[in-house]
Amino acid sequence: MSRKYHAKLVNASKMVKDAHTGKYAIGHFNINNLEWAKAILEAAQESSTPVIIATSEGAVKYMGGLKTIVGMVNGLLDEMNITVPVALHLDHGQSVEMAKKCIEAGYSSVMFDGSHLPYEENLAKVKELIGFAKEHEVSVEAEIGSIGGNEDGVVGSGELGDPKQAEEMSKTGIDFLAAGIGNIHGKYPEWWKGLSFDTLKSLQDACDMPMVLHGGSGVPQDQVEKAISLGISKINVNTELQLAFRDATRKYIEEKKDLDDEEKGFDPRKLLNPGFKAMKNTFVELTKVFGCYGKAK
Ligand code: 13P
Repeated sequence: MSRKYHAKLVNASKMVKDAHTGKYAIGHFNINNLEWAKAILEAAQESSTPVIIATSEGAVKYMGGLKTIVGMVNGLLDEMNITVPVALHLDHGQSVEMAKKCIEAGYSSVMFDGSHLPYEENLAKVKELIGFAKEHEVSVEAEIGSIGGNEDGVVGSGELGDPKQAEEMSKTGIDFLAAGIGNIHGKYPEWWKGLSFDTLKSLQDACDMPMVLHGGSGVPQDQVEKAISLGISKINVNTELQLAFRDATRKYIEEKKDLDDEEKGFDPRKLLNPGFKAMKNTFVELTKVFGCYGKAK
């Protein structure tokens, strides 16, 4: 089956390459439902910011499958008259089969995360995917080392990336490379020592291609800026939007607005609105730090 993604979606290759050259990073934001997708697209369009919308395999299951997600995102692109570059990306795809299914369903970008496999197998599977992805003009992300913590059931020990592997991976035709550089999914614990810039520098020297910072939530601004100066061109954010949504929704409920039956405070369109707005604000704050804010002007 041959399938090209929706005319309004783009792959993430050019936007991330431009970011690498221009020394800023594109924001990758994980979505969970309509509110997430709409908030990110609305904020991106209002601020002329290119963006990557991503789903983990867990989110794919939660949201009712690939067709539902592709239909929803493509529908929003049309109905909201989105003109900024938007890529729809599979985050931490655990198999080549899943990445191919996403491409067939209409995703414009995929990650194959073979960090749970022996390295040679990871490399072989990236090579197996690349031809199919390129035939469909879909961008590809691979991973070496591993990201610490747990991202939707994908657990990593936080092993640092190896420069030799970075060099080999960069020759497969991938568009950007994720690596363990001391980053962790979820909230950073008290004991966290910070990103390993020595590792990042040695990886970038070995592969000279756009690199991806997973676990982008809660990394201090000075570390984000330094990471970008050393080749990070895509930053993945999940937890930070979830926390923004949680805090705003909690405030609404603590103020008992959901119990105001006169005002129909129980209407989900009202109940979810503070969280929606908070996610938009967080998008703006983060993309300003990443430097991609307004880059689609
Ligand atoms: P955080 O949840 O820590 O932002 O990580 C997101 C991520 O890296 C998705 O791939």
